[in-house]
Amino acid sequence: MERTFIMIKPDGVQRGLTGEIVKRLEQKGFNLVAMKMMNVSRELAEKHYDVHSDKPFFGNLVEFITSAPVVATVWEGEGVVASARKIIGATNPLTAEPGTIRGDYGISIGRNLIHGSDAVETAQREIALWFEESELTTWKPALQNWIY
Ligand code: TYD
Repeated sequence: MERTFIMIKPDGVQRGLTGEIVKRLEQKGFNLVAMKMMNVSRELAEKHYDVHSDKPFFGNLVEFITSAPVVATVWEGEGVVASARKIIGATNPLTAEPGTIRGDYGISIGRNLIHGSDAVETAQREIALWFEESELTTWKPALQNWIY
């Protein structure tokens, strides 16, 4: 089953949007398979964003991601990579559609609340970068055992 890496950035955590973001992905129907709040090392931030290492915003981006805790998560479901990107919205919150997370809550490209993997291969790389294999759970709803 397809998996994606979603990170609530320091601004998302500090704006109190962790619950809202998790809620949107849960209610869509995707399964949360891993979640941890953590400080990000410079090494991890630089590896995560290495495709942007020659961009003018790279320094500020790494500075920001390492400045305060983030919530790193992994989600599972059919087509979850592309679908989560739609739920997140465009990179610039000012042009992101209303109804998306960035469109509803963001105003600045440098503070766009959330990261989501942009392709299945990227997701695999990012999940391996952020999580140990033992931190990733596997589960299926077993509601029929709990509700009559
Ligand atoms: P990118 O991978 O292009 O966007 P996305 O997060 O939507 O996949 O860029 C990574 C992050 O870099 C982006 O979330 C915010 C930051 N960024 C800037 O600060 N300025 C910019 O001009 C761009 C393109 C990105």
